[in-house]
Amino acid sequence: MTTAIAEGQELVEAEASRRRTFAIISHPDAGKTTLTEKFLLYSGAVNQAGSVKARSGRRSARSDWMEMEQQRGISVASTALQFDYRGHVVNLLDTPGHRDFSEDTYRVLAAVDAAVMVLDTAKGIEAQTLKLFEVCRSRHMPVLTFLNKFDRPGRDPLELLDEIEDQIGLRPTPITWPVGIPGDFRGVIDRRTGGFVRFTRTVRGATAAPEEDVDPDRAEVEEGDAWRQAAEEVELLDEVGANLDAPTFLSGKTSPLFVGSALTNFGVRHLLDGVIDIAPAPEARLTAGSDLHPIDEPFSGFVFKVQANMDKSHRDRLAFVRVNSGHFERGMTVTHQRTGKPFSTKYASSVFGSERDTIDNAYPGDVVGLVNATGLQIGDTLFAGSEVEFPAIPRFEPEVFSVARPRDVSRFKQFRRGLAQLEEEGVLQVLRDGESGDVAPVLAAVGAMQFEVFAHRLENEFGATVELSATPYTVARRTDDDTATELRAISGVRIMESDDGTQFALFESIYRLQRLQNENPDWCLERIVAA
Ligand code: G4P
Repeated sequence: MTTAIAEGQELVEAEASRRRTFAIISHPDAGKTTLTEKFLLYSGAVNQAGSVKARSGRRSARSDWMEMEQQRGISVASTALQFDYRGHVVNLLDTPGHRDFSEDTYRVLAAVDAAVMVLDTAKGIEAQTLKLFEVCRSRHMPVLTFLNKFDRPGRDPLELLDEIEDQIGLRPTPITWPVGIPGDFRGVIDRRTGGFVRFTRTVRGATAAPEEDVDPDRAEVEEGDAWRQAAEEVELLDEVGANLDAPTFLSGKTSPLFVGSALTNFGVRHLLDGVIDIAPAPEARLTAGSDLHPIDEPFSGFVFKVQANMDKSHRDRLAFVRVNSGHFERGMTVTHQRTGKPFSTKYASSVFGSERDTIDNAYPGDVVGLVNATGLQIGDTLFAGSEVEFPAIPRFEPEVFSVARPRDVSRFKQFRRGLAQLEEEGVLQVLRDGESGDVAPVLAAVGAMQFEVFAHRLENEFGATVELSATPYTVARRTDDDTATELRAISGVRIMESDDGTQFALFESIYRLQRLQNENPDWCLERIVAA
């Protein structure tokens, strides 16, 4: 091996080991946006909390389909954020907070190495936390937990630990433990050191919360019952062995837990330190052939998201690539594995919402936005050395179905173009059969809100309005030619095909499906993703 190659590999290994790439998952309103903003505050990327909101204001002014996010208070578009902290490079990928977009969440989670699950202390596990967590579980993702909003009255933290374990089967291992009840939150015991860290509020939480290390004797005098109760609870945690355990954390069975308040910044530093100290750095990745592809191989990465028209003034198409190995240099020519064709990376950028900066170098764990990457699709691999293919990102099983027709037939061309683009982005799946053709395809989605995004974007970006009408179908299974032939003869079942040639059998009820399965156990009726 030449010295230059060895030095290159050392650089890649060093850069990869200082990266942490993760996503935050939470039920809407649990505090994901606030926490993201406070991470930026603690990293020094912004001087005062509040800047992200100003930033998102600018962003929405430039991108009109994000209007919908603002009106609905939900995040539809995922973005990638990079900042430095304690000599590390942190990549924080945003996930949509609503369960209807859990397929997008799944794609983002394919590109991260860990997740932070944020819970509202007053509410515990909520419906959408559950759905999003299931996505983490299906990927065996290491998850850190943050119990947020401790500044407000809420539930007993011990009870919340039980709830997490009972409802999602993840065993919390608290790293920090609250001193003071929710609503009268004073600080945390750091179980790694046994020390008490007392916080002080700052005006509107705009700057970092001052911290004071207080030894146990003084804590007992100054905090009285609040301290005694916390110390007893910590003893209990020690007794039941709820301690940080790296192997079970990395395999997604236990979850290091932190308590705090994103609003007042209490506990935010501990959580961010936890991401650096406990969450894994990028490591060798599994290929489609189930081999491990080491990080010090030449550049490789995969597309986990495609998004067109994020910025109305550019009207371009952006492919988000997670780097899996090697050193990415803007301008390098790589190979597009699916087509075998060379691909130029001249227009590479970092992406925050629709804001972009040119990116010249990237390492494992980083996210690169490739502009006008028309040929790239979700799941595609790019590589610079010997050929590698990363696993495809599976589509979710659709749960809602709707027939789409252009309202204005004279705009049929625009309707078709929009349909193709939005399907490629994975906004939803478009199913067709001989009967529907392109005039009345069936749209299949995980949640109804995907239809709203589809209709909104079709109108705003492609100038075509759509009429959506209900179908009798409620469940779909993937099928093959032989089973499809049998099923076509059965009334109430419809066989349709997606763009990639996958055949779906649509049923009016799960009971009907189950009966057919029982009567014909050899038929091919597969679930798509066991999420
Ligand atoms: P999300 O991205 O998960 O949807 O939640 P987001 O951060 O937008 O927070 C939702 C609401 O919860 C916001 O209040 C936010 O200020 C509040 N919040 C977040 N973290 C904490 C916390 O630690 N303690 C308390 N008490 N509140 C918290 P809002 O009134 O909806 O918005 P705003 O007017 O404050 O911006």
